[in-house]
Amino acid sequence: MRRGSVIQLVLLGLVAAAITTAVALLIPWLPVAAGKEAQRIDFVFWFTTAIAIGVFAVVAAVLTFEVWKFRARPGDDSDGPPTHGHTGLEIAWTTVPAVLVTAISIVSAVILSQNGHATANPFHVEVIGQQFAWTFTYPNGTSSGSLTIPEGRSTILDITSKDVIHSFWVPQLAQKQDAVPGQHNRLVITPVETGTFPVICTELCGLGHALMRSHVDILSPADFAKWEANGGKTTTDPGLAVFQQNGCGGCHTLQAAGANGKVGPDLDNLKQEATKANRGPLAAFVKESIVNPAAYLEPGYTDQMPHTFGQQIPAASLDQLVQYLVANAK
Ligand code: CUA
Repeated sequence: MRRGSVIQLVLLGLVAAAITTAVALLIPWLPVAAGKEAQRIDFVFWFTTAIAIGVFAVVAAVLTFEVWKFRARPGDDSDGPPTHGHTGLEIAWTTVPAVLVTAISIVSAVILSQNGHATANPFHVEVIGQQFAWTFTYPNGTSSGSLTIPEGRSTILDITSKDVIHSFWVPQLAQKQDAVPGQHNRLVITPVETGTFPVICTELCGLGHALMRSHVDILSPADFAKWEANGGKTTTDPGLAVFQQNGCGGCHTLQAAGANGKVGPDLDNLKQEATKANRGPLAAFVKESIVNPAAYLEPGYTDQMPHTFGQQIPAASLDQLVQYLVANAK
């Protein structure tokens, strides 16, 4: 090959590499990596992307060069010269991709294994998925509809489900883990940033799947110590605490609780709904709707609410929840 052709090929490759590198770097493809595991996963993404850019540049350069140099001139109907294989080239295009793919698998395997390891003294949280809410239970026995974890220390999530398969995902923490009934899956997260990030159900689990969302609060070690000292409560209102612990906001809207679920009836309108239902005083109606949700269905809604809250919520807490809902109904 003439020297001029080699220079043209190299230039074409550099142009293709520059364009793809710009597309990779200038567009923010990935969310902030708020955890050590997420940073490692991002590294695998970039490692693979760099290899892909290299391969693309070579292919694009050769393809453009061939199409340009060896195109049929007008009026040229002759066949091209017969060409046999090129052993050197064949060895190269077999060996190089094999080495690159092996490199990607080794890097991935190392990072997968590192991501399974927690730092010393990890914090443990039990995560339960249920149509259509998350419940997080802490070592002291308290539960909440949102997750609170410390920065700079690993948290081990023990993830399971009460009904169908859900999947736990915080985009900024990168990993996903299925919540499967009868099975306990483990996920290690080690936050490197404080902040509030969304918790998303990323497995189609029913009508309310898209709304099965919560959030994770990553607290600094000092704030986390305060939160722990406060018994893991984010509110001093006992009724609101029961509301949050049972994930009611995953399905219902209630302004007072900052909840905006859309699966079940809007709890701000409880008074109107009770009048329509005509099933006795407001408090009795609210209690019946929690314990035996199918007794009366608000028009436009189906029998979707779990029938288990009556057994799940202790009687005293149930009364606190009913009082809270009655007090906040408009
Ligand atoms: Cu739970 Cu989708």
